[in-house]
Amino acid sequence: MIVLGIETSCDETAAAVVTDKREIKSNIVASQLAEHRPYGGVVPEIAARSHLDHTDRVVGEAMDAAGIGFGQLDGVAVTGGPGLIGGVIVGVMTAKAIAAVSAKPVINVNHLEAHALTARLTDDVAFPYLLLLVTGGHCQLLIVEGVGEYVRLGTTVDDAVGEAFDKTAKMLGLGYPGGPAVEAAAIAGDGSRFDLPRPMKGRQGCDFSFSGLKTAVRQRVARLPAGELTAKDIADLSASFQDAVGDVLIDRAANALDSFRARHRDAATLVVAGGVAANQYLRKRLDGLAGREGFRLVAPPVELCTDNGVMVAWAGIERLRLGLTDALDFAPRPRWPLDADAPPAARLPK
Ligand code: KG4
Ligand code: ZN
Repeated sequence: MIVLGIETSCDETAAAVVTDKREIKSNIVASQLAEHRPYGGVVPEIAARSHLDHTDRVVGEAMDAAGIGFGQLDGVAVTGGPGLIGGVIVGVMTAKAIAAVSAKPVINVNHLEAHALTARLTDDVAFPYLLLLVTGGHCQLLIVEGVGEYVRLGTTVDDAVGEAFDKTAKMLGLGYPGGPAVEAAAIAGDGSRFDLPRPMKGRQGCDFSFSGLKTAVRQRVARLPAGELTAKDIADLSASFQDAVGDVLIDRAANALDSFRARHRDAATLVVAGGVAANQYLRKRLDGLAGREGFRLVAPPVELCTDNGVMVAWAGIERLRLGLTDALDFAPRPRWPLDADAPPAARLPK
């Protein structure tokens, strides 16, 4: 079984060809970083136009690199949401056109499910597992019980964790994208210099909050002597911020492990996925937690944590194997929760 995956929901135009034998035949990612950098973040209209300019080429390159034609595919998978709708529409229209012309099934993939299932491609992880999903738009703890079967244990009541990294980077003058820049700056930093809050830490449940942490970083920056931040200030603030994020993720994930164990006694895998899972410091912290709790941590290779077409193709394979294909008239969705039955996040207690 061989599937083309197309990803256009944020600021990467990506396409890949993957087989059910876990072979990555091709993996093309065209980043729009340079186009968004002057604005310090992703501009939806620029993203949509850029996807329009690059999707055909990226898909063509992925097919050429795999050495196959559309006729040899078993299906065309595409991110149908959630994401910036202009980009999602471009990907979905492209996939539908290829599927219609070559008479192949189209598979409408939830972007979050694509992140969630990547560990099954890279590490053959069996269901069920506990998932910490950390991206630019989401921060959730979920029990993954099967394809399309998710139980959300917690989510953020305000900002996503990647968003907190990006905003912190902006305040420190580190530019966009923030995550990798904060991680790099933190290496030389003293994480104990700034005493930043750990929102939600010690509270029941698995919800997150990051807006107070972001505000605290802004306040610490304002209290420093006027003028340019020194390299040491930037490094120490980055390290202090990352330490705080690590403490919060560990605390919330520990509660989630308890809930997971209560439901599934014999399973012991914690998966971290999404762009923020590329962060080596956070991976180390989560690995420590998993070790203490008798769990195995699985983190996909860094290039499969940030957005890519491989994860979409693989989610397509998972769905195709179960006969889960879609009609050509499915609609792109800006919002698309993995667990539609989850109650709203708890409000941040005062
Ligand atoms: O999954 P992703 O590529 O796109 C979304 O689905 O949102 O995640 C992007 C987010 C951005 O906020 C980016 O700053 C963050 O992932 N990120 C990181 C790192 N690499 C990317 N955050 C922390 N450390 C990193 N090394
Ligand atoms: Zn993503």
